[in-house]
Amino acid sequence: MPSTSLFSGTPSKSSSGWLEYVLIHYRWVIVIFFLLPASFLYDIYYYTRSWVVFKLSSAPQHHDKKVATVQKQVQAWNGETPMCTARPGWQTISFREGAYKKTCHKVAINLVDVLQIDTEKKTVWCEPLVTMGQLTHTLVELGWTIPVVPEMDDLTVGGLVMGTGIETSSHKQGLFQHICLSYELVLADGSVVTCSKDENPRSLLLSSLVIWHSGLPDGCGNKDHPSSKVCEAETRRTEGNQFVEGLMYSLHSGVVMTANMSNTAEPGKINEIGRWFKPWFFKHVGAYLDKGEGGVEYIPLRDYYHRHTRSIFWEIQDIIPFGNNVVFRYLLGWLVPPKVSLLKLTQGQAVKELYEKNHFIQDMLVPLADMKEALEVFHKEVKIYPLWLCPFKWGDKETLYVDIGSYGTPGVDNFHPERTTRRVEAFVRKVKGFQMMYADSYMTRDEYREMFDHTLYDRMRKELQCEKAFPVVYDKVNRKARI
Ligand SMILES: Cc1cc2nc3c(=O)[nH]c(=O)nc-3n(C[C@H](O)[C@H](O)[C@H](O)COP(=O)(O)OP(=O)(O)OC[C@H]3O[C@@H](n4cnc5c(N)ncnc54)[C@H](O)[C@@H]3O)c2cc1C
Ligand SMILES: *[C@@H]1O[C@H](CO)[C@@H](O)[C@H](O)[C@H]1NC(C)=O
Repeated sequence: MPSTSLFSGTPSKSSSGWLEYVLIHYRWVIVIFFLLPASFLYDIYYYTRSWVVFKLSSAPQHHDKKVATVQKQVQAWNGETPMCTARPGWQTISFREGAYKKTCHKVAINLVDVLQIDTEKKTVWCEPLVTMGQLTHTLVELGWTIPVVPEMDDLTVGGLVMGTGIETSSHKQGLFQHICLSYELVLADGSVVTCSKDENPRSLLLSSLVIWHSGLPDGCGNKDHPSSKVCEAETRRTEGNQFVEGLMYSLHSGVVMTANMSNTAEPGKINEIGRWFKPWFFKHVGAYLDKGEGGVEYIPLRDYYHRHTRSIFWEIQDIIPFGNNVVFRYLLGWLVPPKVSLLKLTQGQAVKELYEKNHFIQDMLVPLADMKEALEVFHKEVKIYPLWLCPFKWGDKETLYVDIGSYGTPGVDNFHPERTTRRVEAFVRKVKGFQMMYADSYMTRDEYREMFDHTLYDRMRKELQCEKAFPVVYDKVNRKARI
């Protein structure tokens, strides 16, 4: 892996001062002495707060009042610049900071709580800024889980519904938005509607506020351990297994992991991979490949869900190059990872530019039948390993898709952020796949509309008269719309 090359690259013209030199070459100093402690305190504050609020059950009473505040802001809208949520760009996990956050009329949405867990209906009702980490902490402790738990702790329910979310159970359960039963939405005129399959089904596209119910799988006691069976280079394991994931370490070698939940564990085979002193997960998996044989492990459920959190998949190796060293792990591993939001807030212009020139972060969703060709395209265009493979079911479609996640410093000489990405995007359009929209997209408006069918979207925007009220998705996500 070209792990440190990102920070030994040539700084851009604008970065002349010693401060920028330090920021680029010794970023880990800032990360370790400032960002890690700050991230730790931030998490402690929020987890304590949400734990107290949940125990006091105070959130449900306050919910209506908070929604009324959103409505009031929408009703007071000046009718000119379109609206967006007031959550600042640096707080989201996406590396993009949307320029629309500067120009749009901002609506503050202070909706951060898990409201209710109904164990009879097997639903959880929560507000849109609830994070995956907060949800698993609350649910797993009570012996429950939700069918799709996207891996990173800081992903939010609202962001996953609007921007899609995927997990190793998605080959059975579908995408995050498919497990939601009902949404509460504030429309452009300030009214509130509830949408589900039976109630206002078509207004779904316009959500500016999401409240979420989810079906829970049966029988998930909190002593559950999904057993993770690791075996080399197999592609189709989606039948039977509850969880399926692949990591490619080169074009021709990879590891497929399959797992089921289990109430029991074989003695000596429990591996608490989430503990601070454990090796990064992708390194642990890579060790199986080096040995050339598979194995069976029993992993506590929360550790499994968030297995990629500590190493931000493998992005951490560019930020703290020696972070997987055993001494570092024992001494400071409990402070890792730094929060992506704080990393973004403190990266400065020089690091940001380096990232843009020498870094590639994309998830491409392609039909499973086209996976082999897709892997070749990724190899030719960026050559970044590991590569994440996560099969998933797309709504009612019969064929399976696979999410190919590529994050890191390209290992090819001719990498060009725009030209390379456009070639990969063209391939994805050709096989009728999709790009995940948290990443940089260089498609033109027409190409974007070719990839995502806009028929229903256009019709609903017209019917609900919100063409002026909300920006179209393209204007929020395309490369030019970024700061
Ligand atoms: C480092 C990294 C790791 C990732 N890992 C995973 C992963 O493991 N699995 C996975 O599935 N995805 C992953 N993603 C992608 C992720 O799914 C998307 O970024 C997703 O949109 C969630 O991001 P967020 O919660 O920060 O939401 P945001 O980026 O804040 O929101 C996404 C969109 O939803 C809109 N939105 C949010 N809340 C509301 C609301 N209440 N009302 C109206 N609109 C709203 C926002 O305006 C925005 O347009 C990752 C991304 C990065 C950068
Ligand atoms: C999970 O269960 C299915 C069905 O019972 C079985 O086919 C599969 O081998 C199991 N996988 C693991 C990793 O135990």
